[in-house]
Amino acid sequence: MFEATELTLDAWTTTAWTELGLAASNLSHPWSHMVLGTVSENGPRQRTVILRAVGPENWQMVFFTDLRSPKIAELQRDPRISCLCYDAVSRVQMTVSGRARLHLNDTLSKLFWERIPVDSRRNYVGLQPPGALIDPPSTNLSSELPETGLTEEQRAHGRDHFAVVEIKAHSWEILQLRRSGNFRAKFWTSGESCEGTWIEP
Ligand SMILES: Cc1cc2nc3c(=O)[nH]c(=O)nc-3n(C[C@H](O)[C@H](O)[C@H](O)COP(=O)(O)O)c2cc1C
Repeated sequence: MFEATELTLDAWTTTAWTELGLAASNLSHPWSHMVLGTVSENGPRQRTVILRAVGPENWQMVFFTDLRSPKIAELQRDPRISCLCYDAVSRVQMTVSGRARLHLNDTLSKLFWERIPVDSRRNYVGLQPPGALIDPPSTNLSSELPETGLTEEQRAHGRDHFAVVEIKAHSWEILQLRRSGNFRAKFWTSGESCEGTWIEP
């Protein structure tokens, strides 16, 4: 990742957004599993989500979720988010601050729904909202859910609960740990472009 990247602010931010784009199409990329922080009524909350799409030209990131999940209500109340990606091999951390825009049952969510593999659609057909209290433990899938494919009714149920969350980044930081000494830079959007500065690691 950053080993061969020139030590300039332009090269760093370009590499970081290129890597995020690669992570969005490769589940084995360490940055594909990002930690998403939101502001709940009871303070900060975090969870892992999978990065699904990236728009490097306007600093956008996308993940999918169930619109019944608590994070959706949190984002409706306060759209501010923080994302954290870390690669333990290259030892590069990227943090992103931004605002979330929700796509619930709109053109974009329908477009992504058509594109996701049938197997992934199973994540949205749960009968109960994510986070609902249950006893005994259960996977929250209908007992009639077939091993492969979904019935027409299940597909419709899943599509109705499928949400796309678009993040518009307004600032980000990159920290690279090196044996010889660490480097860290901070960037922020300024109109159509971005600015940056090196900061003390
Ligand atoms: C490896 C991994 C990947 C996950 N990916 C997602 C995801 O892409 N979207 C999502 O909503 N939840 C995902 N989850 C589950 C969330 O971490 C979280 O438990 C769930 O979304 C409920 O979060 P909430 O209560 O904050 O809404 C993932 C969990 C793990 C462990």
